[in-house]
Amino acid sequence: MIKTDTSVVIGNLHMKNPVMPASGTYDYNENNPGLFSMSDLGAIMLKTVHHDIRPGNKSPRIAETSAGMLNAVGIPSIGIHAFIEGKYLEKKYRSLGAPVIVSVSGGTPEALRTCCEMLDDSEDIAAIELNLSCPNVGTGLQLSSDKKLLHDCVTEARKGTRHTLIAKHSPNVTNIAKMVKISEDAGADAVTVANTYMGMVIDIKAKKPFLGNKQGGLSGPAIKPLTLYKVFQAYEAVSIPVIGCGGIMCAEDAIEYILAGASAVQVGAANFVDPMVMPKVIRGIEAYMEKNQFPDIASFRGLAHQM
Ligand SMILES: Cc1cc2nc3c(=O)[nH]c(=O)nc-3n(C[C@H](O)[C@H](O)[C@H](O)COP(=O)(O)O)c2cc1C
Repeated sequence: MIKTDTSVVIGNLHMKNPVMPASGTYDYNENNPGLFSMSDLGAIMLKTVHHDIRPGNKSPRIAETSAGMLNAVGIPSIGIHAFIEGKYLEKKYRSLGAPVIVSVSGGTPEALRTCCEMLDDSEDIAAIELNLSCPNVGTGLQLSSDKKLLHDCVTEARKGTRHTLIAKHSPNVTNIAKMVKISEDAGADAVTVANTYMGMVIDIKAKKPFLGNKQGGLSGPAIKPLTLYKVFQAYEAVSIPVIGCGGIMCAEDAIEYILAGASAVQVGAANFVDPMVMPKVIRGIEAYMEKNQFPDIASFRGLAHQM
């Protein structure tokens, strides 16, 4: 049997394996079920910290759908100032034993730059992910669906930090290839493809939208073929790493993403179904590599492009 190496390097982010939670879908502290060590993860991705203090959206914020879930949480946030002053990175995340990625959001390119500048001194961060794609807050979605805004957001954020910068994109665009190229040209070190798809549920008894925010973002297995295709397209458009995120429920899903070109993957909605899904995905990737004699992730990344 060959020795397999699952490690992945994205800028200054050194991961022992390519698996991390998607932002907003996992709790590392109070509500962590304690079923496995957080140090088993490739990275720890925090829930988005917004530039401003935000209460989040009206409830209900979550709706179950066939093969997925809709959420309209709306980034409740203590704001970046309180996040820094509260020393949360040192107190809550430093000891977890995996590299920490802070996800940030803001209504303007300048707000994103401020977030990045305020985090720049921290030695507890391996990377910053720009949430340019939240469909549930004012300008959230526009940040990565409007070409000029996207360019300005990544350019400003880049000026604000020396940390590895990941631009998280919206899938709600016609041409993902063009959008990820804009992020690359503006200085992103990697792109995450993608956030959730706009959708809604209507309560037929009340005869009105079920979610307090009316619309929400669809995630879970329903979106996997859609986002997988976007990752496939993104991989051909940029030379920076692509992180795949959308509907990963098992190791086979993650492997499909890597074959499509993803350097790493994020697991979101699946964590609500099975809190052990991430270690299972990690073990399943290792088993696949052993079976197929792949010594490292790079040896099968993007193989699906060989036609
Ligand atoms: C309850 C919930 C909260 C989320 N919060 C955030 C967030 O704060 N920041 C962000 O970038 N994405 C957020 N997302 C989107 C996920 O990170 C991920 O991009 C999306 O759910 C698609 O992956 P999945 O199909 O594996 O869930 C959230 C998703 C869910 C379901």
